[in-house]
Amino acid sequence: LNNMAGASERTFIMVKPDGVQRGLVGEVLRRFEQRGYKLVALKMIHPPRALLESHYEEHKGKKFYDPLLAYIGSGPVVAMVWEGLNVITVGRKMLGATDPAKSDPGTLRGDYGIVTGRNIVHGSDSESAAKREIDLWFRPDEVSNWVHTAERWIY
Ligand code: TYD
Ligand code: MG
Repeated sequence: LNNMAGASERTFIMVKPDGVQRGLVGEVLRRFEQRGYKLVALKMIHPPRALLESHYEEHKGKKFYDPLLAYIGSGPVVAMVWEGLNVITVGRKMLGATDPAKSDPGTLRGDYGIVTGRNIVHGSDSESAAKREIDLWFRPDEVSNWVHTAERWIY
């Protein structure tokens, strides 16, 4: 195959504070790496309130908004950018449903979560969200355009 159209698609994935506290950073990384996706950015950050207000602006005014910002702002998160064919859609499948009780076993939330308010990991839900979130969380020089030498065995 090779030069697969769409293989440069990117998504923003974040291990939330509960995922960090529970030692699930490696598990999230492992699953995306082993699936064949390419990690192009990674950092631990204790997100300031303003960053979270921007990240979750679509949810402002909802009843879960204040608890959500308190939860995500409660500790460091691990922010990452993953690249590959259909990574936005497949990444969301790998996370599972927003409510872990509705997530299939085999998904991150379905294997490690119980309630929506502690659902371990975030993933962009569309192309426009992915672009917005990557630009919000990372400077261009924090994203690496390295050559994935295993790619010829994946595509
Ligand atoms: P949402 O964007 O709907 O879900 P997802 O993370 O799957 O894209 O909501 C953002 C986060 O807000 C969600 O991961 C957990 C939290 N949340 C609640 O705490 N209660 C709720 O009823 C909803 C819908 C979300
Ligand atoms: Mg969402």
